[in-house]
Amino acid sequence: MIFKTIAMAADHGGVELKSVLKEQLVGAGYAVLDLGTDGPQAVDYPDYADALAAALKDRRAEAGVLICGTGIGISIAANRHPELRAALVHDAFTARMARCHNDANVLCLGGRTIGPEVAKDCLKLFLETAFDGGDRHARRVAKLDRKP
Ligand code: RB5
Repeated sequence: MIFKTIAMAADHGGVELKSVLKEQLVGAGYAVLDLGTDGPQAVDYPDYADALAAALKDRRAEAGVLICGTGIGISIAANRHPELRAALVHDAFTARMARCHNDANVLCLGGRTIGPEVAKDCLKLFLETAFDGGDRHARRVAKLDRKP
């Protein structure tokens, strides 16, 4: 296992997919830190990205899953945090590349744009794919931390 504890958070647009993926994670033996939201009431996706960023920063989890309606807002919010490399993923290929080329530590999905079975494939690949590292990819990922 590359990651052992996975933090999850979603807004109301991602709450159903979050519960599907949580079940998958628990079934696969991961420890899950569920940061909400838990119901259909409208909430603000930046608050959930911030909660997940705090969990990774405090080392309460090693990787994260963030879900909003499209995955767009919550991925933008996540990438405001320098500790996070959040990748908005739509299929198996982007899930795998997010890890092997970008060393992403947060998987972002759209609860209204992706079906549960495709999302489950994305999550499995994301968690089981190692960063390729090496000169090329490690150099590029290191450049992400440069200050503008
Ligand atoms: C909420 O309605 C929706 O805007 C949000 O889930 C997300 O899609 C934003 O990017």
